Amino acid sequence: MPIFRRLRDLGVLGINARNARYILRENPRRLYPRVDDKLRTKVLCEAAGIPVPKLLAVARRHHEIPELLERTRSLDSFVVKPARGAMGNGILVIGSRRGHAYHRSGGRTLDLEAIRYHVAGIISGLYALGGHRDEAMVEERLSTHPALREIAVEGVPDVRVIVFRGVPVMAMVRLPTRASGGRANLHQGAIGAGIDLATGHTVRAVLRNQPVRTHADSGRPVVGVAIPAFDRVLEVATRAAGQTGLGYVGADVVVDAERGPLVLELNARPGLSIQVANGAGLLPRLRRVHELPTREMDLAERIALGRELSRSHPLRPAAQEEAAC
Ligand SMILES: Nc1ncnc2c1ncn2[C@@H]1O[C@H](COP(=O)(O)OP(=O)(O)O)[C@@H](O)[C@H]1O
Ligand SMILES: [Mg+2]
Repeated sequence: MPIFRRLRDLGVLGINARNARYILRENPRRLYPRVDDKLRTKVLCEAAGIPVPKLLAVARRHHEIPELLERTRSLDSFVVKPARGAMGNGILVIGSRRGHAYHRSGGRTLDLEAIRYHVAGIISGLYALGGHRDEAMVEERLSTHPALREIAVEGVPDVRVIVFRGVPVMAMVRLPTRASGGRANLHQGAIGAGIDLATGHTVRAVLRNQPVRTHADSGRPVVGVAIPAFDRVLEVATRAAGQTGLGYVGADVVVDAERGPLVLELNARPGLSIQVANGAGLLPRLRRVHELPTREMDLAERIALGRELSRSHPLRPAAQEEAAC
């Protein structure tokens, strides 16, 4: 079957329709700063009592770098990131420290001078969209929930949830690999595993758009995995999306080993490969939400609807899909 027909039959949302019908119509531009700046997202979530990783230090200008470094000197683990970064660029995850040697998760050892250089690069706009000046932030390093440890190599996985008009319509867990440098970004080579919203189990997984069943680094299955605290994941993702005022949001949630689900970041232009990870298109679910009076529904009803949509527009297990080709 020609690829475009197959995609259409699956109800796959393409980039043009996403931009025209969803991003432009549902997401007013003036609200973008709420999600494009991770510092603002943190404030927004905290004000609503939604858990986020703790902010430990910020440097907005070059002259503030010494103070930021002073603050990190006593920490054994932390993360440095650009407030306006994307796709995992510019993220430095320090997993442990011995004296003046900071160990980057899955990577080299750095000294304070190297961290200073990295922070200066962030402020100069090295990782920001359009190369504009940015702010460097240091936050607590989250740790992987034990249930996911064997399939998240050298980094913390996150769950991406697409929330449309207050309804969680699709989700995937992104599993870091050695190749992705411990970051859970698909562009960096992480595995994306689609989740059945009704059960909270992964049903299919892809690595660079190709189906996989096991994690390349650990050999452990990535399909049929139960996501820990999945009810709460859907709850914090949906509530956080609601705080933005945007109608179409990608919420990234980490299930921390100690603190449980936390909102890592929110996106106003979430990518489309979540459909590949799920083997299912977004369109049938989005259309269904369009037809319903979701504004009159409370949080529990909207989450129940999302789970129902996942059941009525089922995911295709990899085996079934291969048989259908
Ligand atoms: N506080 C943290 N603790 C541990 N890992 C983190 C932390 N922040 C980010 N990461 C890792 O880096 C990835 C990208 O971080 P994120 O904040 O989502 O930035 P981006 O906008 O670049 O995707 C996450 O998916 C996670 O794997
Ligand atoms: Mg992210």
